[in-house]
Amino acid sequence: MSSFDPDTLDSKQQYKLMSSTIIPRPIALVTTIGADDVPNAAPFSLFNMVGVEPPMLMFSLTPRAGNIKDTGRNIELLPEFVVHIVDENVKEKMNICSADFAHGVSEIDFAGFRTAPSVKVRPPRLIECPAQFECRLIDIVKVGRRPNHIVIGEVVMLHYREGIVDEAKYYVDAGKLAPIGRLEGAGMYTRITDRFRMNKPDIPGVPATSG
Ligand SMILES: Cc1cc2nc3c(=O)[nH]c(=O)nc-3n(C[C@H](O)[C@H](O)[C@H](O)COP(=O)(O)O)c2cc1C
Repeated sequence: MSSFDPDTLDSKQQYKLMSSTIIPRPIALVTTIGADDVPNAAPFSLFNMVGVEPPMLMFSLTPRAGNIKDTGRNIELLPEFVVHIVDENVKEKMNICSADFAHGVSEIDFAGFRTAPSVKVRPPRLIECPAQFECRLIDIVKVGRRPNHIVIGEVVMLHYREGIVDEAKYYVDAGKLAPIGRLEGAGMYTRITDRFRMNKPDIPGVPATSG
């Protein structure tokens, strides 16, 4: 067994162990609008669903040189954003958006993304992405000593590329959504091409799990 006491590790060592173990992680490509009105896009894999009623999601911003990243600063100014799911078609463009561009430079234009206006929020949608969730900020929670900023949003509109959702059943075809996920190290990713089914447990006298 290999065991580690985080109190004996520096932040890079902690990050390497955590981010290479909690895998695969979904990727949120988040658009926001800055103070200069320039739209911004950046990917975040410390990302997940929070719950429903209303539908909510979260992603976490690690600090850059002790400061909150542009995405967080933009959301503090205009509490709206769009979360996009990333597939293979947009993976290179997503990667370009992770570069540390100067303020006022739009990663969206640089990466060559096509955009469309959102319905309920101001930041634009990246229409090549298979799913686009328009969000309004619920809260930004600061955690840890650095600190990290957890952005929690309410999903106020959901958009999907044609053919991904069975609209009568609200069934999302995972194979057609085809998200990529983040794995270990600086550049490893995965596909969801190796899925399997496991039904809810059927244990006599024990109610089936509901979630
Ligand atoms: C796939 C991927 C996932 C990433 N996940 C995160 C993350 O969860 N949190 C974070 O702070 N940065 C993450 N980054 C780095 C940010 O995308 C990067 O710092 C970006 O420049 C932030 O842009 P901004 O300053 O415009 O907000 C990730 C990068 C990539 C390529």
